[in-house]
Amino acid sequence: MPVITCVEDLKRIYKRRAPRMFYDYAESGSWTEQTFRENTTDFQDIHLRQRVAIDMAGRSTKSRMIGQDVAMPVALAPVGLTGMQCADGEIKAARAAEKFGVPYTLSTMSICSIEDVAEHTSKPFWLQVYTLKDDDFMKRLFDRAKAAKCSAAVITVDLQMLGQRHKDLKNGLSAPPKLTVKSVANMMTKVQWGLGMLGTKRRFFGNIVGHAKGVADPSSLSTWTAEAFDESLDWDRIREFRKMWDGPLIIKGIIDPRDALEALNVGADAIIVSNHGGRQLDGALSSIRALPAIMDAVGDKIEVHLDSGIRSGQDVLKALALGAKGTYIGRAYVYGLGAMGEAGVTKALEIIHKELEVSMALCGHTDVTKVDRDILMIPRDFSDRWQ
Ligand code: GLV
Repeated sequence: MPVITCVEDLKRIYKRRAPRMFYDYAESGSWTEQTFRENTTDFQDIHLRQRVAIDMAGRSTKSRMIGQDVAMPVALAPVGLTGMQCADGEIKAARAAEKFGVPYTLSTMSICSIEDVAEHTSKPFWLQVYTLKDDDFMKRLFDRAKAAKCSAAVITVDLQMLGQRHKDLKNGLSAPPKLTVKSVANMMTKVQWGLGMLGTKRRFFGNIVGHAKGVADPSSLSTWTAEAFDESLDWDRIREFRKMWDGPLIIKGIIDPRDALEALNVGADAIIVSNHGGRQLDGALSSIRALPAIMDAVGDKIEVHLDSGIRSGQDVLKALALGAKGTYIGRAYVYGLGAMGEAGVTKALEIIHKELEVSMALCGHTDVTKVDRDILMIPRDFSDRWQ
């Protein structure tokens, strides 16, 4: 067994074990991948201020996200096709999250359905919601979330149409994978993955097949989004969703302060500063660079969370120090899942937890809820260099 010390180690094992098509799906951004890259590199533009001889005993990473207790303010982000990275992937990730004490967000584009995840877990999870044209589907989706006791809905507002990822087209991405000479040749080298998949019935988009109407090929993400997603989504429509769901509501996909203000007006409980992991608008600002202006616009009026680019506890610490009350990891836990199933997700959480706790302490803090901008050294023009 290799010694795993960081999220990069999990990624290396994941790359060996998962079929190329699904590795590429997770590890790509749209078009030139500028935003995908800058989401991670921009974290490195910010430095942490080391302090010494400050009592570091009695550290706590406990906090709250939308009023719910969390072992650390790091939730699992919604990730499409998680159940293709590893058999029953959504159930395994949700179980790891509930044991660790952090929220799990199930994607609408999951393989395991809402009901299936609810049946195989014991704590409420969050449901990420895509906005489809089919009103009936939307109402039923919120009803299904309520029946499954989901404790928050996360509406994604940055995917009215799908950003192009070249590799997904070249690989013919689908769930289940279409059997071509290339895909079969690759899958045959992924023995553990294949055995897992042979042993499960969960190989289709579980929330869609049998639920959404008018989709010609429900195995293809690009066909499905092009046919079923609502290109005309606007804030009035989001207000209608607010009425359909009376539980905690989080709006995901905000990069501009004006949109943060709109989300506030809709009555959301939190927003997620996110560019969809660099998978939508290529050339959009990285999330961490967009965060300060959004904090200035709405930070004391609504809970602000951040995703996109987090691969370490130091990244989490920087986002929290800039004012985010919560963060999300997507790829970082998918690496663990694809490498080692549920144990790999737990490993990713443990790694990030340790990095967060130690880095926080070396900055002179013992309580993650007390961390502030004072621990950061931010280049003067980090978020203010734009005309
Ligand atoms: C879906 O959310 C995707 O980014 O593929």
